[in-house]
Amino acid sequence: PPLTEILNLHDFEAIARQVMTEKAWAYYSSAADDEITTRENHAAYHRIWFRPRILRSVTNVDWSTKILGHASKLPIYITATALGKLGHPDGELNLTRAAAKHGVIQMIPTLASCSFDEIVDNAAPGQTQFLQLYVNSDREITKKFVQHAEKRGIKGLFITVDAPQLGRREKDMRMKFEAEDPREVTDNKVSNKVDRSQGAARAISSFIDTSLDWKDIPWFQSITKMPLILKGVQCWEDALMAYDAGLAGVVLSNHGGRQLEFSRSGVETLVEVVRELKLRRGLTFPNEKFQLFVDGGVRRATDVLKAVALGATAVGIGRPFLYAFSAYGQEGVERALEILHDEFEMNMRLLGARTIKEVVPEMVDAGSIHQH
Ligand code: FNR
Repeated sequence: PPLTEILNLHDFEAIARQVMTEKAWAYYSSAADDEITTRENHAAYHRIWFRPRILRSVTNVDWSTKILGHASKLPIYITATALGKLGHPDGELNLTRAAAKHGVIQMIPTLASCSFDEIVDNAAPGQTQFLQLYVNSDREITKKFVQHAEKRGIKGLFITVDAPQLGRREKDMRMKFEAEDPREVTDNKVSNKVDRSQGAARAISSFIDTSLDWKDIPWFQSITKMPLILKGVQCWEDALMAYDAGLAGVVLSNHGGRQLEFSRSGVETLVEVVRELKLRRGLTFPNEKFQLFVDGGVRRATDVLKAVALGATAVGIGRPFLYAFSAYGQEGVERALEILHDEFEMNMRLLGARTIKEVVPEMVDAGSIHQH
C-alpha cells in the first residue's frame, strides 16, 4: 500500500512481514525464549493511564526537547539495531537521512551493516549522532573505536550492558547465517571466526566481552570525554551505581525482549528508579545531569508521553524503524516520524500539556505497575 495509507507504527510491521526475506524477519522480530518479555513491553504501557488537564489553551503545543543537551524535535531517538542491510540495501543510512530531515537523533550500532564512517559521512552538517558500544574482549580495539567516534563528533556513548552473551532467539537460530550476509562485507572483521550454524545474532556476537565489570567504568572515563550512558539497566540498584560512578545516564531496557526473558519492561523499571534515586540521592527527574531513557515496545506518542511523565528524558524506538525502511526505505522512516509528530500534536492537546516540561507525573496513573 502507498505510504499515505500507513496510519500508525504497527502498520509497518504488518507490511514488512509480507515483503521482507524470511531471514531478515527472523532476525528483526525475534526475541528471547518464548517471547513473553517482548509482548509484555507493550502490555506494560496498557497498565498506565492518563489524568489529563482541561481548559489550558492548547492552540500551540511544542514537543521538542533536549537529549544530553542536544536539540531533538521529538522526545524520542532511533535506538541502535544491528544489521540494517538485512532489511534494505541502504541499511542504516535510511535512518541517518530520515533522522536529519526530522531533527531526531540516531544511535549508531557497533554492529551496523554500513561502516561507522559511512554512517557519519552521510549525516547532515550539525546532525547529532550517538554510538552504541559492544565492548570487545580486545580492549585496544574498543579504545580505538571509541576515540575515533569522539573525533568524528559522536555526542554520547551508550555502552550495552545487558548482553554479555546474546539471548536465545529461536526464530533467528533456525536460519543459517550465510556468507552473503551484509555484515561480512563491512570492515569490522568479526566474520572470520563466526559460527554460522545458529542465526545472525549468534554469528555476529562472539567478540563481546563477557568479563565486563563495574571496575571497567573508570577506564572508559579515562579514554573519552563523551557522556557515558549504560544501556540495559534493569533495576534501581544498578541505576544508583551508575549515578554514583559519575555516568551521564542509563537506558532502562530489556533489549526489546531479546536478552533475559522475564526482565521487566523499561517503563516499569522507570517507576522504581525514579522513586529510589529521589529517596537515596535527592534527585528529581527529568534531570539534566543524570538522564533516564527507556526503550522497548514504544509504538505510539501516548507511550512516549507516559514515560516522559514518569521522568524519562526521551524514549528509544527500534523495530518500527527497521520495518519502515525494510518496506519503504528512507521514506518509510520519514513517514514513521511524521506519524509520531501528528500523534504528539493531538495527544499533547488532549492531555493539556503545551510543552514537554508540562508533561508531569500527576498526568499519569501508574498505580497498577508492580513495584519492587
Ligand atoms: C536490537 N537492539 C540492540 N541493542 C544494542 O545495544 N545493540 C544492538 O546491536 C542491538 N541490535 C538490535 C537488533 C534488532 C533487530 C533489534 C530489534 C534490537 C535492542 C534495541 O536497541 C532496543 O533495546 C529495542 O529494540 C527496543 O525495543 P523495540 O523498540 O524494538 O520494541
